[in-house]
Amino acid sequence: MTHQHSQAWPLIRAAARTARDSTVLKNGARYVFDGETLTAAAAGDHPVLAFENGWRSLLPPSDPRQACLDLYLPLAGPRANTPLVLAQLGQSLDGFIATAGGQSHFVTGPTSIVHLHILRALSDCVIVGAGTVAADNPRLTTRLVDGPNPVRVVLDPQLRLPISCGVFSDGQAPTLRVRARNVTLPGARGSADIEDLEIGAPSGKLDLHELVNELWSRGMQTILVEGGGVTVSAFLAAGLVDRMHIVVAPFVIGEGRPGLRVPSAAKLEDCVRPPPRVYALGSDVLFDCDMRSHSQSESGSSVIRRVL
Ligand SMILES: NC(=O)c1ccc[n+]([C@@H]2O[C@H](COP(=O)([O-])OP(=O)(O)OC[C@H]3O[C@@H](n4cnc5c(N)ncnc54)[C@H](OP(=O)(O)O)[C@@H]3O)[C@@H](O)[C@H]2O)c1
Repeated sequence: MTHQHSQAWPLIRAAARTARDSTVLKNGARYVFDGETLTAAAAGDHPVLAFENGWRSLLPPSDPRQACLDLYLPLAGPRANTPLVLAQLGQSLDGFIATAGGQSHFVTGPTSIVHLHILRALSDCVIVGAGTVAADNPRLTTRLVDGPNPVRVVLDPQLRLPISCGVFSDGQAPTLRVRARNVTLPGARGSADIEDLEIGAPSGKLDLHELVNELWSRGMQTILVEGGGVTVSAFLAAGLVDRMHIVVAPFVIGEGRPGLRVPSAAKLEDCVRPPPRVYALGSDVLFDCDMRSHSQSESGSSVIRRVL
């Protein structure tokens, strides 16, 4: 963890923990932090966070934790009616997330990897496509930060992944294997470590709205879509992404697995242009895009630059 991350993380983690037990949260409440837990502030206290339909920092802008609080508090919940869907990709300058052969360890630098583990720790579940599991055999755990592992959700509509994949067999976190409803499950391919979830696939593609509703009904308030490009693009096309983190690393792959692929716009003014906040993560640059904001911004006052 960077120094800034280490200083801010206990507070962010406490906010996320408090949000998970949202019954104790009251709009307008202000909180003090003892290094471990947040408690409602009494008169004379110096509160550090306020809760008003979401967390807000009360620390001065000069506080070294402020950049991390700006970045991570919006992810800390709780959600009233729908989950927060956060998509992330790490890509090269020329927009690729892996080499043509599928190598992606590591497109982004060490600070960005810690950032990704923080996103996992703040999420109730992490979704990946079958292509990512086939290429990377990832664990999808929070090994680099102090925080809970999310439930792992693998989109494997045709059940093409072997049961020997780590997410299905390592027992490190609960795993949901999502298949298309008309695909049958041969008995031999089941495992005690995973739960199978059937989702409609009306036009051959999984109905991602049905999936998100199902995850919400299971109490998942923050959903991280971690890749790869096909999966993140499918969530974006379905209009399900609330927030998007694109980390750009300063190198060129040349030809490889693409990141975002969305239907092309005829005119530049028709392109999706979310107002970003921009952070430096080591030598990488993170674009934190609020996909629900309709405010038009270029490089003006609404773009905040911070260095982590
Ligand atoms: N740099 C990064 O941030 C990052 C992150 C993750 C992965 N990666 C890299 O990216 C590569 C894999 O990415 P990718 O884009 O090729 O594949 P992917 O998104 O990981 O997986 C795509 C597959 O997932 C299933 N899937 C996803 N959405 C679906 C939907 N709506 N309906 C039905 N099936 C759906 C399909 O499986 P079927 O093919 O079985 O139908 C689809 O082909 C790997 O090389 C990995 O190393 C990089």
